[in-house]
Amino acid sequence: MFDLKGKRALVTGASGGIGYAVASAYAQRGASVVIADITDATDAAAVIGAIPVHCDVSNEDSVAAAFALAVEKLGGLLDIVVLNAGVGDVGPALADTQQSLIDKVTGINYWGVVYGLKHAPASMNDGGSIISTSSMAAFINLPGSAIYSASKKAVVSLTEMAALELGSRAIRVNCICPGYTNTAMGSAEEGRAICEAFTALGRAATVEDMSGVYVFLAAEASRYMTGQALKVDGGWSCGPTTALLELVTGSATAPG
Ligand SMILES: NC(=O)c1ccc[n+]([C@@H]2O[C@H](COP(=O)([O-])OP(=O)(O)OC[C@H]3O[C@@H](n4cnc5c(N)ncnc54)[C@H](O)[C@@H]3O)[C@@H](O)[C@H]2O)c1
Repeated sequence: MFDLKGKRALVTGASGGIGYAVASAYAQRGASVVIADITDATDAAAVIGAIPVHCDVSNEDSVAAAFALAVEKLGGLLDIVVLNAGVGDVGPALADTQQSLIDKVTGINYWGVVYGLKHAPASMNDGGSIISTSSMAAFINLPGSAIYSASKKAVVSLTEMAALELGSRAIRVNCICPGYTNTAMGSAEEGRAICEAFTALGRAATVEDMSGVYVFLAAEASRYMTGQALKVDGGWSCGPTTALLELVTGSATAPG
């Protein structure tokens, strides 16, 4: 059910963070893996026996070239594509947001997934799996994150549409919405404090908390799931924790 032997996978944004943990987990389960990243992933790839390919996901030609190169280097069409590359830049209120932040976040988080979903199918076997990385920011807005949240909500919408379009080829398309995860992007102290106050599990995630879910969505175990956005958030979306309620109202239970 969770075996990936003989599968070919491409993971974007996998020179570090969540993407690298996913690439490692796939390689451990027998998949051949290409890491497609804007930064040089040669050393990181060597550790897990993956193949590094340069790719700027915000550039359509670069994305198309990375898929073509991955097929060539892996010796056949892909079975698993993970569109994970992203940036977490947040800023002031919308009225004061710089165009440069809008262009950067939208270019990578939104257009990166558009180009990935546009070009992946031609490089994939029927019956494959595409997994994008959205975010809990798609569902829970934090001040200053308007552009980031919108880009991640768009990933949910694109996932549903692509699932509809690719169902006839039995290609499944899902996305994962991580809560705060301890990476270069998510390791900020505020993130940790937010998780302690806001999540049922009371802690930020590790990249290994995430990678198992990417294995699940890539594998046979999830073969009847498509078009879904999985919240992997330690219970953040369930509602206020007892500790938070106590802090705000002075009582650990809801007001009667
Ligand atoms: N860490 C968190 O708390 C968190 C929470 C929710 C969602 N996410 C999402 O998870 C994904 C991975 O983030 P992470 O936390 O591992 O961050 P990270 O910064 O550790 O990794 C991001 C990766 O994307 C690559 N990248 C950046 N721009 C690129 C581009 N233009 N083309 C190709 N690759 C590019 C980086 O080189 C890096 O390898 C992102 O989409 C992010 O939005 C992260």
